[in-house]
Amino acid sequence: MTRTIYYTATTLDGYLADPDDSLDWLLRQPQEAGGAGDYDSFIRGIGALVMGATTYEWLLEHEQGVWSYELPAFVLTHRDLPSPRSTTNGGPADVRFRQGGIAELGQEMRDAAGANDLWVVGGGDLAGQFADLGQLDEIVTSIAPVVLGAGRPLLPRRLDLELMQVERNGAFIVARHRVLGSLAEDQERSSSSSAQRAAEV
Ligand SMILES: NC(=O)c1ccc[n+]([C@@H]2O[C@H](COP(=O)([O-])OP(=O)(O)OC[C@H]3O[C@@H](n4cnc5c(N)ncnc54)[C@H](OP(=O)(O)O)[C@@H]3O)[C@@H](O)[C@H]2O)c1
Repeated sequence: MTRTIYYTATTLDGYLADPDDSLDWLLRQPQEAGGAGDYDSFIRGIGALVMGATTYEWLLEHEQGVWSYELPAFVLTHRDLPSPRSTTNGGPADVRFRQGGIAELGQEMRDAAGANDLWVVGGGDLAGQFADLGQLDEIVTSIAPVVLGAGRPLLPRRLDLELMQVERNGAFIVARHRVLGSLAEDQERSSSSSAQRAAEV
């Protein structure tokens, strides 16, 4: 069954990028190819990917309009964004622009992934949109030894997670968490306020 996995690097204080969308702090960190959380092993299990517009624009700018992903890639945006060329054949890349709710789009993305998993590339709110619907299964983070104090948040939601695995790769802590759902305290609060409303009717 297709799982939805948010696989990303983050600072120790939970930022994907600095306030100017710079990843310079990340790109200079030493990492061992083939080690824990290694991209090549991860991508072998992926059938499709999804990202928000800022992440897409960052990739286009830093890869000079050339697209190295061979898998179907969904880009969520309200704007008309340029399509890249594929690195492999020079033709148009399989980039599918969509907008709207994950409730409507999630199934199309999982279907595109086939028997493999769906990779949520980022940003954090997009991962949160999947989590809001209970459709985010796992989070794999490579945590860099950096704090930024401000920036683009890793996952701006209140969720309980279960730690499944922790390893080290070069400068990074690589952690795999299963998403359990809304924070237990929030679930209790919402069920006690529904019980109170029911008692008042
Ligand atoms: N550290 C890492 O490994 C890593 C991984 C991923 C990303 N990043 C970086 O982190 C930053 C993330 O940026 P971000 O927080 O702005 O998030 P983002 O998800 O990349 O982009 C957010 C934008 O996506 C569009 N969007 C999101 N959900 C949508 C929906 N349901 N329907 C239509 N459009 C939707 C909206 O853009 P419009 O309305 O303008 O179209 C929204 O403003 C970027 O700098 C990226 O490069 C880092």
